[in-house]
Amino acid sequence: MNTTVKDSVRIVSLLEFIHPQMEGMRDRVHDLVAQVDEPLGSMLRRSLDGGKQLRPALVLLVGRMFDARLEPFYDLAVAVHMLHTATLIHDDVVDGASIRRGRETLHMQWPTGATVLAGDYLLGQSTSLVAELEDPRLFKVFAAVLRTMCAGEIRQMVASRRRRCDWEAYTYGIEAKTASLFAASTEMAAILAGADGSQIAALRLFGRELGMAFQVVDDVLDFVGDEAQLGKPAGNDLRQGLITLPTLYYLERVKNNGCVEAVLSGLRDEEHVQAAIDAICASGAIEAALADAQGYARRSQEALAPLPDNASRRLLHTIAEYVMHRSH
Ligand code: IPE
Ligand code: IPE
Ligand code: MG
Ligand code: MG
Repeated sequence: MNTTVKDSVRIVSLLEFIHPQMEGMRDRVHDLVAQVDEPLGSMLRRSLDGGKQLRPALVLLVGRMFDARLEPFYDLAVAVHMLHTATLIHDDVVDGASIRRGRETLHMQWPTGATVLAGDYLLGQSTSLVAELEDPRLFKVFAAVLRTMCAGEIRQMVASRRRRCDWEAYTYGIEAKTASLFAASTEMAAILAGADGSQIAALRLFGRELGMAFQVVDDVLDFVGDEAQLGKPAGNDLRQGLITLPTLYYLERVKNNGCVEAVLSGLRDEEHVQAAIDAICASGAIEAALADAQGYARRSQEALAPLPDNASRRLLHTIAEYVMHRSH
C-alpha cells in the first residue's frame, strides 16, 4: 500500500485499501433508502451519494485495525454517514448555501420544511442503526455528539451576528460542529471493536485532533480554495460575516484593517468581500492558520501511538497528512 501523500491527494485513492468495505457501506445505505417512500427516498439518495465519506471510512478503518468482525461496523459507518449528511442538509439551510458537492443543495429544490424533515429522518434512521448495536455506551456518545453539534451551530450563528468571535469562541465552535463528530466516530468504533479504555481514549483524541485540523483547513479553503474543486462557493464565510481563523489572525496582525472591518460591519457586496479576502490572503494569516492545522494533525498522529501497529493504523496516520493537503 502506498501511504505517501502528494500535493493534491484524492481521498478515493487513499481509501483503496478499504474499497470493498466502503462499497459494502454504500450498498447498505442504498438498501435502507430503497425502503423509503417517494419523494423522501429521492431526497435522501441525492444527499447521501457523493462526498468524501471520510467519517465512515474512519469507522471501518478502526474495525480493521482491531481485526474485528466487520458486520456491525457497517451499521456504525452508515449511522455516522447519515448523521453527517443530516447535519450538512441542516447546515446548508442555516447558511443559506445554494451549492454543495458541485450541485444544488436540497433546500434549493424543496421547501425548507421538507428539507429540514429529510435531515430529521436521517437522524432517526442513524439513531435506529446505533440502537441495534445494543451497547448503551455507543448510544451515549451518539446522543452527546448530536447535542454538541446543534449547540455549536447555534452558538456560531449568534456569535457571528454579534461579532463576538474570538479565539476561544472559534475553537469551541469548530470543536462542537466538526471535531466532535470525528471524535465520536473513532471513539464509537473503538468501543465496538472491544478496545480497552486507553485505546478508546487514544482514538477519541485522534478523531478530535483530526477533526480540528479538518475544519481549520475547510476555513482556509474558503479563502484560497478553487470553487470547481471544492464543489461549494469560496468566500462564503466572510460573505456571511463569519469570523474564522484566517480572519482572527488578520485582525490580530493588521491594525489598519479597514476593508475587513467594512465587511464585518455589514458591507457585503462583492467588491468589499473580494478586497477583504485579498487583504487577508496577503497578510500571512493563511499560513498562520495552516500552521495551527498542522499542529492539530501532528497531535492526531501522536495519539495513535498506543494502538496496534498495522496497515490500518498507518493509513489513519496518512489520513492526517491528507487532511492538510486536501483541495476539497
Ligand atoms: C463538510 O464536511 C463540513 C465540514 C465539517 C467542513 P466534508 O468536507 O467532509 O463534506 P463531504 O461529505 O465530503 O461533502
Ligand atoms: C461545518 O461548517 C458544518 C457542519 C459540521 C455541519 P461549515 O459551514 O464550514 O461547512 P461547509 O463549509 O458549509 O461545508
Ligand atoms: Mg456551511
Ligand atoms: Mg466551510
